[in-house]
Amino acid sequence: MSEELPSIPGRGLPVSARAPGKCIVFGEHAVVHGAPELVFAVDLMTQVFVTAGSATRLNADSEASLRNAYFRSALDLAWKDGPTVEVRAVSRIPKAAGLGSSAAFVAGLVAALSSVTGGIDRPTLAQRSFEVERGAQGVGSPGDTSTVVAGGFVAINGGPGEPLWSVRSPEHRWEVRRVSDPGWVWVIAYSGVPRSTADAVRAVGARLAAPGGPEILEEFRRVATEGIEAVGRGDRSTVAELLRRNQELLREVGVSHPRLEALIEAGAPAAEASKITGAGAGGSVVALPVPGKETELVRRFARAGALPFVVRPTSHGASLVDD
Ligand code: MEV
Repeated sequence: MSEELPSIPGRGLPVSARAPGKCIVFGEHAVVHGAPELVFAVDLMTQVFVTAGSATRLNADSEASLRNAYFRSALDLAWKDGPTVEVRAVSRIPKAAGLGSSAAFVAGLVAALSSVTGGIDRPTLAQRSFEVERGAQGVGSPGDTSTVVAGGFVAINGGPGEPLWSVRSPEHRWEVRRVSDPGWVWVIAYSGVPRSTADAVRAVGARLAAPGGPEILEEFRRVATEGIEAVGRGDRSTVAELLRRNQELLREVGVSHPRLEALIEAGAPAAEASKITGAGAGGSVVALPVPGKETELVRRFARAGALPFVVRPTSHGASLVDD
């Protein structure tokens, strides 16, 4: 029996929805090319409020549909010919940090708008949120959007878990499955170096298409496949070893950054392992702390100039706020 996640019900305006951030444990970048990925939803939320308005605006900006590609893409795909609306978005997720701020904004907004047009089931919300994000970025996988729609731990193209849904693009089809949460605490540290996901994805795509690229992709695939299994059985030492190997691969495809390497080094005495999470080239690292050394790890990351968060996966995916 597959897990039944509740649909987003139909509502009239005003409506409010929220969605969590995400943290990629294994397989970023490689997932764009069809390899497996493991991601969990983070308990940092974005909340989106939609009310009737005399002009369509985002956070009081009436030019937002020209300036903000995610907003424009969501309106095009989920609000075609809809009346003008006033949208307000409030987020605890740092932007351009690899923590899913755009996926959370997109999934929250699509959930809210789709609720006004009669409601939406979760597989369709996942597909539509992916199309909106991809419409804005031009590249990418559904890993981020499916995770913030589902909540909890999610495997893309891997693992023996319950199937949740599949997401399609013209080139690929990704299977999304549930992975059980081993109940660990994770530490994320934002380097403060912003980056562009689309630029990083294109650069890695070029590296994977160059000589030696297919072998690197195969190794990404192995690491994520074994990582999904190790998380599923709560095997910390194997997870730590695979996190380190995944970081070497990310370095090899060129998305590390001196600030990220400095953070990984600074955290090492209190971390079983750390790696980039998300597109890299800036953004954040995720670390598995040595049990009992969580506070020391946070202190080490902060002293090295990062913004650290102790995070727990949240089981709450995108939802209407009054649900
Ligand atoms: C970005 O959070 C993750 C990437 O794999 C891109 C994507 O999957 O869309 C780098």
